[in-house]
Amino acid sequence: MASDESTVRSELVEGDLGYRRFRLGGFEFRRDRYFAHVKWPKGSHSLDVTAFAKALMRDVAWGFFYGWVNFDDVFGTTNHYGTVDVYAGRYNAGFRAAGTDYFETFPTSQAGATFNAMLEDWTNEGFDPFAAPQETGNAYGPKTSSNLAAVRRARVVCKRAVGLAGDIPRRTDENGYPVNRDFADVPQDEPEVRPEPGFEGQIHAFNLYSYLSRSDVTWNPSVCSVVKDSLFCPTSEEHILPIFHGNDRVEWFVQLSDTIEWEVADKETGSPRARVIMHAGDVAAMPADIKHKGFSPKRSMLLVWENADSKLPALYAGGKLSPYPVDF
Ligand SMILES: [Fe+2]
Repeated sequence: MASDESTVRSELVEGDLGYRRFRLGGFEFRRDRYFAHVKWPKGSHSLDVTAFAKALMRDVAWGFFYGWVNFDDVFGTTNHYGTVDVYAGRYNAGFRAAGTDYFETFPTSQAGATFNAMLEDWTNEGFDPFAAPQETGNAYGPKTSSNLAAVRRARVVCKRAVGLAGDIPRRTDENGYPVNRDFADVPQDEPEVRPEPGFEGQIHAFNLYSYLSRSDVTWNPSVCSVVKDSLFCPTSEEHILPIFHGNDRVEWFVQLSDTIEWEVADKETGSPRARVIMHAGDVAAMPADIKHKGFSPKRSMLLVWENADSKLPALYAGGKLSPYPVDF
């Protein structure tokens, strides 16, 4: 994420256990042993600091992602690709009714720099916000240190495909990606590619299951192949997606292994709409007007298929495209 350190407003406050307190427009952020506290001119809200750090990690690593990153039912961000809305209560019927909802729009670089600085300051050694709960320590307690190697981990974005010359390399034991404990049975052989003369360098294949079995993070869709606006963003999942993602376009999900349960809710009001249980081989289209949160009882593999066409959010928001891609 592009960052501009000069726009970050933060201070050390006595009683804050060594953590910095951050300000972004009318928002104030502070943390204590167990909670992150967000204040805005009309209200305040507290989240478990583990949940907050995991959501913050996604916002920072993904550059605010597509559409809405709801940290929980109250606080989150909306990406307008150049600017970002930071909101509290804006998509929560109770806050809206009480008139205590609030949002401000910031240049992406300003919001990104503040979130990045907050993530770096609030994460101690031993806690990795991208890791599954059983593969990391916890986020609680006073400030002791930092874990910059973990929180500066960038989202993998390939140019064409994993494994091509000059692109993102395959994962191996040698480059630091051992097979995860839950994927010990995944075959690690690579496909044999024999292009006809004249097509060398144009034909490519790699073992995606092997690649995902070696992922050291969870809930982090990474771009592994690109054909124009078609992005394959597979990911390994375990425990709970730390955000409620609000779509600004249709997303396709292909469950490559094991099981994920999805909670699907209305993006504007938060009212529940569906529970989708996906087993290996199941395919679903998540509509453009919903938010969703996933639950994976065991490490699983999910292919998220994104359409990166920058015209789509306006077409859906303006009602020019149906929020779902198929009529039955
Ligand atoms: Fe989504």
